[in-house]
Amino acid sequence: MLAIIGGSSLAKLPILEVTHRQVVRTPYGDPSCALTFGRIGMQNVVFIARHGYGNSIAPHEINYRANIWALHSVGVKGVIAIGSVGGIRPDMVPGSLVIPDNIVDYSWGRKHTFFEGVEKPVIHVDFTHPYDRGLRERLLLAGRQAGLDMLDGAVYACTQGPRLESAAEIVRLERDGADLVGMTGMPEAALAGEMKLPYAHLCLVVNWAAGKGRTEVVSFDEAQGAVRMKAVERILITLLM
Ligand code: HPA
Repeated sequence: MLAIIGGSSLAKLPILEVTHRQVVRTPYGDPSCALTFGRIGMQNVVFIARHGYGNSIAPHEINYRANIWALHSVGVKGVIAIGSVGGIRPDMVPGSLVIPDNIVDYSWGRKHTFFEGVEKPVIHVDFTHPYDRGLRERLLLAGRQAGLDMLDGAVYACTQGPRLESAAEIVRLERDGADLVGMTGMPEAALAGEMKLPYAHLCLVVNWAAGKGRTEVVSFDEAQGAVRMKAVERILITLLM
């Protein structure tokens, strides 16, 4: 069974034929919401809305540990994370669908590991390649089979939010090698790694990062975002049929 973590533009997954919901309690507190179980095509899937069903949990307030622990506890074999991002690299045009292949983490103060406390062992999980190659390839192939343009490979910068970045911060991220910027990719990916859950990220570019577009301020095109979410659903349907 695969897990799908929906981002702010995907708090519900209409293509999921829901069978049941389950409230999971974890040693790390409550997940963002109950887990929704169901089927897409022939496959069993469990869905969780990262920001809660009401989209009310800010990126820095998400209980990433509880979400990943809950998914692991119900036996998922992999996680597909969906997220909205700002485009930094010139080809990361709003509307693009991107499967990043690496991460730079600028977030802070988030509970970012399961290995803490004196009773836990000190374990240094390898994070050279944060995303699972097999899942990345399945996403790319599914997108292309669905007739969509998919961008393969990008460095995802995770900022703290909830504010957007300054133009100078984006220049710095770019110098650091970042191609995309979002607020929720970490510590989610690292926690999945600690649980040995294959994890891949499907990113939807919803705006030019600060200072990159033609507009003076960052502008989200909500209508365009909604249209592209249909594309995300097509990718999932193709992947899971
Ligand atoms: N910056 C950070 N996170 C984001 C952005 C952005 O420009 N767009 C969507 N999520």
